[in-house]
Amino acid sequence: MKKRILTGITTTGTPHIGNYIGAIRPALEMARDSSESFFFLADYHSIIKNNNSEDIKNSVKNIALAWLACGLNPNKTIFYKQSDVPEILELTWILNCVTAKGLMNRAHAYKAAISLNKEDPDKGINMGLFSYPVLMSADILMFDSTHVPVGSDQIQHLEMTRDIAQRFNHLYKPILTIPEPMIQDSENIVPGLDGRKMSKSYNNVIPLLGSEKELRKSVMKIITNSLEPGEPKDISDCTVFALYEYFASEAQIDDLKKSYKDGISWGDAKEILFKLINEELNPIRSKFEELKNNNDYLNDVLNEGAKKARLLAQEKILAIKEIIGISKIN
Ligand code: TRP
Repeated sequence: MKKRILTGITTTGTPHIGNYIGAIRPALEMARDSSESFFFLADYHSIIKNNNSEDIKNSVKNIALAWLACGLNPNKTIFYKQSDVPEILELTWILNCVTAKGLMNRAHAYKAAISLNKEDPDKGINMGLFSYPVLMSADILMFDSTHVPVGSDQIQHLEMTRDIAQRFNHLYKPILTIPEPMIQDSENIVPGLDGRKMSKSYNNVIPLLGSEKELRKSVMKIITNSLEPGEPKDISDCTVFALYEYFASEAQIDDLKKSYKDGISWGDAKEILFKLINEELNPIRSKFEELKNNNDYLNDVLNEGAKKARLLAQEKILAIKEIIGISKIN
């Protein structure tokens, strides 16, 4: 069977270097090498936790721009907003009807949310959060995806998708394709400014789309130990070095290793890191600046993507509805 990769990006916040290294860069590499790729903005997922419409709007725009600026080719990859393909919501309902509630009770994200509550476990929990994995399953199953690149925090959602698809195929006919997860961050956790995983919730991110000045300022804020210039430094457990490895060639890594042994100052090491990241981000930044005021272009790209996606979705939903008995009377 043809390999078809599909992945969704929840539209909250603006992308940072951790997203770039962990998700955007590897996904774009995969898209270059594979015959069919579908990347979409999971805007219906984003309203589960955020009801600030301005946040959502800005985030959809910035994330779409980030992917395009990083080199996504909309002629090769089908790139669309989830909300522009309403068939996904039709499929969501159909899948809801074959999904065991008990399966959803076991979802990590839901369990984490109820565990924070004391008296009433359901306090503040909406049905969107509870059935999040069903919407995600519909995203994936709608397009017969074979391979789904995701972070390791999404493994359970992929297992649920497979479960739901198998259940549907067993109850009706085997028309849903069982997808394989492709785990993108199995070994590497990109550290943030304070050494913990780079994450918006830790407030330790290096923004992807900031100016050169902002990038430099962020890099200079990386926390190091207090060894003086001239004292040899250890590359293990060092955020500066760990980030450098994500951007550098083998030869560059060897050079910096040697400089650490020779007692490079933290200021100089950070300067080297800043220069290298900046070199890679420069073309991305200019593309972003070029596109950011061209909403017509962005809307055109997303509309084109939705058109292509819908063509496939309409055909698939018709077949699915047919086999569940929702079709023309004959
Ligand atoms: N839940 C995913 C995340 O938070 C985003 C997502 C939504 C997704 N639908 C998807 C990923 C379908 C892969 C396939 O990262």
